[in-house]
Amino acid sequence: MRYATRVFKVNFAAMKQVLIQSTSGDQHPLKGRTVTLAFHKLHPCFAAEVSGLDLRQVHDQETLSLIRTGMDEHGVLVWRNQPFSNDEQLAFAERFDGTLHAKTSVAVLGKNRFGNEALTDISNVNESGQILAADDRRRMSTISNRLWHTDASFEDPAGRYSMLSARVVPPVNADTEFADMRAAYDALDADMKASLEGLRVHHSIAYSRQVLGFEFSQEEKDKLKGAVHPLVRTIPRSQRRSLYLASHAQQIMDWPVPEGRLLLRDLMEHATQPQFVYRHVWRQDDFVIWDNRATMHRARSFDDQKHRRELRRTTTLDLPLASAA
Ligand code: OGA
Ligand code: MN
Repeated sequence: MRYATRVFKVNFAAMKQVLIQSTSGDQHPLKGRTVTLAFHKLHPCFAAEVSGLDLRQVHDQETLSLIRTGMDEHGVLVWRNQPFSNDEQLAFAERFDGTLHAKTSVAVLGKNRFGNEALTDISNVNESGQILAADDRRRMSTISNRLWHTDASFEDPAGRYSMLSARVVPPVNADTEFADMRAAYDALDADMKASLEGLRVHHSIAYSRQVLGFEFSQEEKDKLKGAVHPLVRTIPRSQRRSLYLASHAQQIMDWPVPEGRLLLRDLMEHATQPQFVYRHVWRQDDFVIWDNRATMHRARSFDDQKHRRELRRTTTLDLPLASAA
């Protein structure tokens, strides 16, 4: 379904200097061209597909700033045909939003197969490309993505933007759903909004994994202490208010645990109603960027003992904005 389209003009003449340096004097294909960056809405509340750019070539501040503005509005941006290598994906994530999140939860389970903890392995395969057995502990992290969550909410600073690159897409649906936490907040009634003011939530990955029946050793738990964040956030650039929920949300600070969990469940149920949810059907070389402060997401199930699915994620830290253009 297509909704309104917003078009920005980006003049790539502004890229000249950067590109001449980075291509040792070669003529860059985009140099001097005017490229049209178009946002096509994918859902009435949020999410847009963007056309007109190869993100590997985007270095200039003007274009990066337009993409950030698009993120402020849409919360999820979908890009097709972005054949990133691992290094290109890491470099783009840093250009786009600064410091990368590299303390991922899976680090306690074993070494990252790409040799860089900032590139999260969202796959069901091992280092030789074979499908992980159902009882392989490394599968825990990927399968836990099937619960609604935001990335790294159990850390402080938490995740800001996540960027997922689709490298191997199975021949069956293995989709990702996103929910708009700003629209979900806006839809609460005034009394409910007032009652949520000032509440703080403890997020813990050990908790969300235990919900699915996975256990951590004491040593692992000691490394995964969790973090406390406000339940309602104001996103600085857009000034929109948002519910900050996740499978990791374990309890409301200073409340009895059962009352807190019941409220968190009610809010999760509210926030994931179909009118707030966009479902992304992956194609090879898709690149999806989402704002973890404004959305939740979850993987949908597929037969992961039969089909390979390989994506790579980079996530930035929610630090004060150096690049607040
Ligand atoms: C993630 C994630 C969902 C999916 O990469 O953070 O939750 O569908 N992925 O793989
Ligand atoms: Mn995730």
